[in-house]
Amino acid sequence: MLIDTYGRVATDLRVSLTDRCNLRCTYCMPEEGLQWLGKSDLLTDDEIVRLIDIAVTSLDIEEVRFTGGEPLLRPGLVGIVERVAALESRPQMSLTTNGIGLKRTATALKAAGLDRVNVSLDTLRPDVFKTLTRRDRHKDVIEGLYAAREAGLTPVKVNSVLMPGLNDDEAPDLLAWAVECDYELRFIEQMPLDAQHGWKRDGMITAGDILTSLRTRFELTEEGSAKRGSAPAERWLVNGGPHVVGVIASVTRPFCAACDRTRLTADGQVRTCLFATEETDLRAALRSGAPDEEIARIWRTAMWGKKAGAGLDDPTFVQPDRPMSAIGG
Ligand code: GTP
Ligand code: 5AD
Ligand code: SF4
Repeated sequence: MLIDTYGRVATDLRVSLTDRCNLRCTYCMPEEGLQWLGKSDLLTDDEIVRLIDIAVTSLDIEEVRFTGGEPLLRPGLVGIVERVAALESRPQMSLTTNGIGLKRTATALKAAGLDRVNVSLDTLRPDVFKTLTRRDRHKDVIEGLYAAREAGLTPVKVNSVLMPGLNDDEAPDLLAWAVECDYELRFIEQMPLDAQHGWKRDGMITAGDILTSLRTRFELTEEGSAKRGSAPAERWLVNGGPHVVGVIASVTRPFCAACDRTRLTADGQVRTCLFATEETDLRAALRSGAPDEEIARIWRTAMWGKKAGAGLDDPTFVQPDRPMSAIGG
């Protein structure tokens, strides 16, 4: 079991498969990209499968989410999913993606054993998409979403970040579209995890702003905390249900007390939190020939040291060195 000194138990593992991405979202990375990890820095497919096996067999991990960067850029993704699905303690498996390439891979991913996907899409307007992501790929994302739903990678969730002056007027349109297409939409407050360190508290759209905007067109009723569990998203029934909309208010309504996550970066470092300032090197342990029990022990010790919370709204908050794309969302 992965338990910390506050009694929180991590049952959800997020695995970053690459730090690279084919978009350049302005709230995430600069136009020129970042200093990417080298091939030998990355965990191999075998190493990833072995760590997941240890996590589900010895550490009681129940759900694995693959992230990036953009995880569809990892050549071995389908094979990794297939091998994890064949483990004796098979975890639930999900993927967080920008959707580019999903049209091509959705069916194979489903067949390999992936359960569901979350796709990032901030706007319904191709021109705004191009400004926000610096790439003209809106159509690919829409097609990817459609393919995911058709392949049964459901519920398909859509993640949207609203940026002032760009797409902050789009919340009701996005929700009307998501309800029509049967995607579960979640709005995410922008977090201080951009590579450029340009995040400003005053400049972000808050959960309060988003709900006010949505209520101009929809009736929202709180779904209630019983259903939320440890999920980052608070959810509202749209016009009485059954459709729901979520808001992930990491800044204004942090949910650290209920956190059930542990993270693995693409270069094999355990992070106890998205905002952790320290990491624990599992790759070195793996490559020095450590047996499974030793790796499990190192992972347990790392999680035992997990801090209470991040406090993004706290003036003493320090942004971690690694940007979001190198941590894995
Ligand atoms: P579900 O299991 O489908 O609810 O997935 P999820 O919402 O946990 O995962 P997803 O990868 O779609 O992430 C959505 C947003 O939540 C992203 O902006 C993540 O960065 C953010 N997020 C994920 N985990 C954490 C966390 O531990 N803390 C905070 N503050 N944000 C998180
Ligand atoms: N703040 C909030 N969300 C972010 N994402 C990327 N960078 C940030 C940030 N700084 C979102 C992506 C994707 C999800 C994994 O995280 O848009 O939907
Ligand atoms: Fe790529 Fe996601 Fe960062 Fe956008 S937010 S550049 S899709 S890693």
